[in-house]
Amino acid sequence: MPATTSALARSGVLSLARAARCTNTTTNTLSLLHHYAPSSSSSCCTNPSSRPRVTPSSRHGQVRCSSHSPMGAAAANPRKKVTINTLRAQHKKGDPITVLTAHDFPSAMVADHAGMDMVLVGDSLAMVAMGMDDTSEVLVEEMLLHCRSVARATKAAFTIGDMPMGSYEIAPEQALATAIRFIKEGRVQGVKLEGGREMAPTVRRITAAGIPVLGHVGLTPQRQNALGGFRVQGKTADAALAILDDALALQDAGCFAMVLEAVPEDVAAIITKKLSVPTIGIGAGAGCSGQVLVQTDMTGYFPPGRFLPKFVKQYGSVWAESMRAIEQYRDEVKSRRYPAPEHTYPAPQAEIEAFAKAAEKL
Ligand code: KIV
Repeated sequence: MPATTSALARSGVLSLARAARCTNTTTNTLSLLHHYAPSSSSSCCTNPSSRPRVTPSSRHGQVRCSSHSPMGAAAANPRKKVTINTLRAQHKKGDPITVLTAHDFPSAMVADHAGMDMVLVGDSLAMVAMGMDDTSEVLVEEMLLHCRSVARATKAAFTIGDMPMGSYEIAPEQALATAIRFIKEGRVQGVKLEGGREMAPTVRRITAAGIPVLGHVGLTPQRQNALGGFRVQGKTADAALAILDDALALQDAGCFAMVLEAVPEDVAAIITKKLSVPTIGIGAGAGCSGQVLVQTDMTGYFPPGRFLPKFVKQYGSVWAESMRAIEQYRDEVKSRRYPAPEHTYPAPQAEIEAFAKAAEKL
């Protein structure tokens, strides 16, 4: 028996067929392989949940039996691409702009399929996807990796990448270089940065290069050390005026829209009225031109007991559903109820008997 074949045989029927598929080995023993990739009427696929899905790569006769299937599927209701002009038109009509964070391919895909106008690869990634204590640790390279995954999934929504702390504050040239990386490597359509008046020359530099910039004023989490924590901003007339000044300066510099985070509802409403570009509120009430939330917060994808700010409305219980599913999987594996016959691949009895006989002799 050739070395490869004996190694394959030692690893069992399925691994045998799998490995053969990978190595293109053609021996008699591997005639099993002919039955591995089932025809459309094959009994291995009678259970719809175990039937290989038709994906772009299976459409041309290649049947996928691997768990590593592409996620790609067209939206049930495909829509037109949201551009910066779409957002401007929406704002003009008073149609609220919907924004949601996404940090990877599936979270971006679901946000896009659900009809979000904008998908933001926020640096909240650091805390909710990478387990960091705050956003100051996350690197440009890490943001770019996630931006690329999000961009692959987002067919309609306008995509924004959050430039992380340290990647844009040193000088407008540094900021432009980072913004260009977000567009070229991150494949997003615009960038976000935090800060007010002091960032105006930077916004000017980036927008002059044709890159849309989303501003972010009020509570700016990247500066939480200077703000004394994640605190509501603009609670006094002076503080509110300072935020308005910041917002106006960013608008003049070319921001196409502005996140207003954690400011009193009335302050946000007045600032929104004073601006000609849309405000995207988070913890800033209903008077903003649109709203943004962190997806893990609003879908409830976090363990019980986690602190949730007052402004978050939890629309789902993804954690609870995942726990239920994973616990059931654990129990079924432990009790050998999973995998059941419908989750397995058949081979002709004669082949199995021949194999068993050959295996006995080894
Ligand atoms: O990082 C983020 O997700 C954000 C939004 C909350 C606006 O900045």
